[in-house]
Amino acid sequence: MDIIKAISTRRSYGAVLDKDVSNDFIEEILQAASWAPNHKRTEPWSFHVFKGDGRHKLAAAIAEQGGEEGYKKVFRAPVVIAVVSTVGRGKINPPIWEDHAATAAAIQNMALATHSLGLAGYWRTGVFTEHDAVKKLLAVDDNKGDRVMAFFYLGYPDTAKLPPLRNKPNWQSKTIWY
Ligand SMILES: Cc1cc2nc3c(=O)[nH]c(=O)nc-3n(C[C@H](O)[C@H](O)[C@H](O)COP(=O)(O)O)c2cc1C
Repeated sequence: MDIIKAISTRRSYGAVLDKDVSNDFIEEILQAASWAPNHKRTEPWSFHVFKGDGRHKLAAAIAEQGGEEGYKKVFRAPVVIAVVSTVGRGKINPPIWEDHAATAAAIQNMALATHSLGLAGYWRTGVFTEHDAVKKLLAVDDNKGDRVMAFFYLGYPDTAKLPPLRNKPNWQSKTIWY
């Protein structure tokens, strides 16, 4: 798919629950993520793939503070990839915000790769990203400035609930030419 088309047609899609995603696709998506630009080439991210029964591990961590409601949320797609911005791990490191920015770029790469493969992706965050048990499971080091940046829900699109295309965003009103 042409990159401009991929960017402009990507949406946050819900997934069907009865169709699994192959590891080959997941690997392709994580490879795409890892092409993201990152200052000082520290690759400041980690990916935690919760797939099938593996989702219970994330759900259990979320349930510690998030209760039954939180537990259930993990099962909205066959795969959930938690993405952590892991900062300060290189020999020379950029400012923390730059590592977060690089990880955000990686997540957008995931979203675009997902879309181009005909799959459904949904970048979610919320309070669970701050929960202690979740941070422990994902090896988040608060002292370094790590941050859970995404729970990326992945699956095959639920075509009954496909969202409409977005209205063309108005970049003109946000742009000053000199
Ligand atoms: C950093 C970030 C966090 C997000 N967190 C959530 C979330 O917790 N729940 C949710 O429903 N959508 C979340 N979204 C998705 C946005 O709601 C979605 O991208 C936006 O509505 C635009 O829709 P689109 O992705 O279909 O273009 C998040 C997006 C970003 C970039």
